[in-house]
Amino acid sequence: MNLKNQLCCLLAAVSFPAAIFAQNIAITTDHVALVYQVDTNKQLQQVYLGKKLSSASVYRDVNPGYRNENATLNTAYATGGATYLNEPAIAVQHADGNRSLVLDYISSQTKNIAPDVVQTDIQLKDPAYPFFVTLHYKAFQQEDIIETWTTIWQEEKGAVTLDRYASAFINIAWPQNYLTHFYGEYEKEMEPYQSLLQPGIFSIQSKLGVRTAANYNPSFLLSPASDVSETSGEVLAGTLAYSGNFNIQFENLKLNIDMGNNLKIIPGINAYASAYELRPGEKFETPRFIFTYSNTGRGQVSRNFHHWAIDHGIWNGHQKRLTLLNNWEATYFSFNQDTIAGLFDGAKQLGLDLFLLDDGWFGNKYPRNNSRAGLGDWQANKRKLPGGVGYLVKEATARGLKFGIWIEPEMVNPASELYEKHKDWLMIAPNRPEHLYRTQLVLDLINPKVQDFVFGVIDSLMQQAPGIAYMKWDCNRSMDNAYSPCLGKKQNALYVRYTQAYYKVLGRIRAKYPDLDMMLCASGGGRVEYGAMKYFNEFWPSDNTYPKDRVRLQWTTSYFYPALTMCAHVTAAGRESLKYKMDVAMSGKLGFDIVVKKLTEGELSLARTTVDNYHRLQQVISYGDLYRLISPYATNFASLMYVNGSKTRALVFAYSQETMQQDTWPEWKLQGLDPKKHYRIKEINLLNDTRPQFPESGQVFSGETLMAQGLKWYLKKSETSSVLELEAM
Ligand code: DGJ
Repeated sequence: MNLKNQLCCLLAAVSFPAAIFAQNIAITTDHVALVYQVDTNKQLQQVYLGKKLSSASVYRDVNPGYRNENATLNTAYATGGATYLNEPAIAVQHADGNRSLVLDYISSQTKNIAPDVVQTDIQLKDPAYPFFVTLHYKAFQQEDIIETWTTIWQEEKGAVTLDRYASAFINIAWPQNYLTHFYGEYEKEMEPYQSLLQPGIFSIQSKLGVRTAANYNPSFLLSPASDVSETSGEVLAGTLAYSGNFNIQFENLKLNIDMGNNLKIIPGINAYASAYELRPGEKFETPRFIFTYSNTGRGQVSRNFHHWAIDHGIWNGHQKRLTLLNNWEATYFSFNQDTIAGLFDGAKQLGLDLFLLDDGWFGNKYPRNNSRAGLGDWQANKRKLPGGVGYLVKEATARGLKFGIWIEPEMVNPASELYEKHKDWLMIAPNRPEHLYRTQLVLDLINPKVQDFVFGVIDSLMQQAPGIAYMKWDCNRSMDNAYSPCLGKKQNALYVRYTQAYYKVLGRIRAKYPDLDMMLCASGGGRVEYGAMKYFNEFWPSDNTYPKDRVRLQWTTSYFYPALTMCAHVTAAGRESLKYKMDVAMSGKLGFDIVVKKLTEGELSLARTTVDNYHRLQQVISYGDLYRLISPYATNFASLMYVNGSKTRALVFAYSQETMQQDTWPEWKLQGLDPKKHYRIKEINLLNDTRPQFPESGQVFSGETLMAQGLKWYLKKSETSSVLELEAM
């Protein structure tokens, strides 16, 4: 190095505190590490993401060869308009019109915020403007989950426009990237698609405004190899907790000399029609991106999500979920007080906890006898329910049942008194005709009066009938021609403000009704994501209740969401036996949507046995560790199991889907047991006099045998199922 260069280096070194160059900012859990380092240009660089190493000091430096020339290779939060020329995490227009943003490292703090949770906050600032970004990381130690998000604020001389504001910017250094994402349509939610990412940008996103997970769930699995399995291979799994328009971009830069050969994952609010005017002093917080990593396959990432969700991600994760009888597929809109009360006895006969009254109970001037009328008029229909909701609650209570009710409070039918009274509450673009979908429109929830109205729907039901224990909150259309009359000419951040309003209302409801159980529904699984699940106990994954389809859909849903959140109802759909249907539903949160009176005596008795078994084993299913054993996407069979924390009890579900003559029986090795323990196997969900399909029922095997040698597969016919209970001796 010549003298001039040496002098430059020396000057660079003295102009900043030496400590920040050497310092690794390591965000770690028990097994995962995400490590940052500050380079000589004060730029925060990601130096590592993967398996946690033995100590914070062993993570290597940023490659010094690149340091000064190109500070953008592994940037922690890429900024737009300056030197980074690919997809940025953040792009703004400063108050003076300058569209370039530079973020220098300022400081970082790490502290324990709960026994299992360590939070790191990294402060960044534009050197030329009072514009600030804090990157937050909450590291859940045992769960191996990192939640990350950002807070953005500014003290410039006027508003700054945020054009993009991602929740995170994650660099992946694998040579190839196999992405699995989950595409969905009505009754076909969570279909997995795996592909090798090509150079370019791939994105999963929503512009639906509400019901935003209807096409793509905001979740993904990423691996460096295509043959990742449940038990082997590296997986990075992520999900965005956001109920509005989202965008998760994967920009694959291959051998890009300027920008490196990394994959950049950029999850956040969709920038489409969402420029946000940030006033001086105002703080904007982005939604949380939740991710985990495993080098032992997909099973572990799911268990990580499940543990985190139960403890931190969903409403009342440790409260026992209620088994229920729902009337939707049994009656649709045609019912009255007597038919509903008549169904209560069925719920009681099955031994269920709750009866859920679905759509069709409200509207007087415009009775809700089909989906074309009544939405918005949340008073019980006097002809159908002369005694009101209170009467039904009383009748249910008298039979020892809890009572739940359906609502869709963000929506309105033009045939409603609400519509007649409040045209100013409708989301309709000026000079555009009303575009109805399911004959309904979206209300302008951004308007505080509409927020009061929506809160009031729940509040007044609870006042009238305080015994209501459960609500199913539905949402059956997306937002189009989006325009909020209350925002006037400032429509820019409409989608963002709608979602903020949605959370505000949910927050009010939760503050007043913490013990009310709530099911999240949006034409099935259109709102399944963790932004809303912070307020909900469980969700309705799909209106598709065909059991063989459910085996697949519940399999993919279980990658991210635990069994206690996943409502699974036995319905008339499908020609499979009642046993098969119940064995499928029991692996999620069990419910029924049938006319119990139509069951034969034998069926009723089997159903009662199954419900009793579910209640007896609900702890294992709800809180046990899930192991997916045989994939319905790879074979004509499926199997999964739950093991309780002390490994003393497990429950194995096995299904033969549409088997064929030439099928070979799957290898069926159990997982998650204690190899040293011995387990008695018992086939359950059988009537007393029925022979088990699994002849080894009653025998004892060691955990080691069950995991190494496995079980024999006896379900050779299509549409047959077994549930095996394992008890440690
Ligand atoms: C759509 C839901 O997914 C169904 O379960 C049912 O509640 C209907 N809406 C009622 O309109």
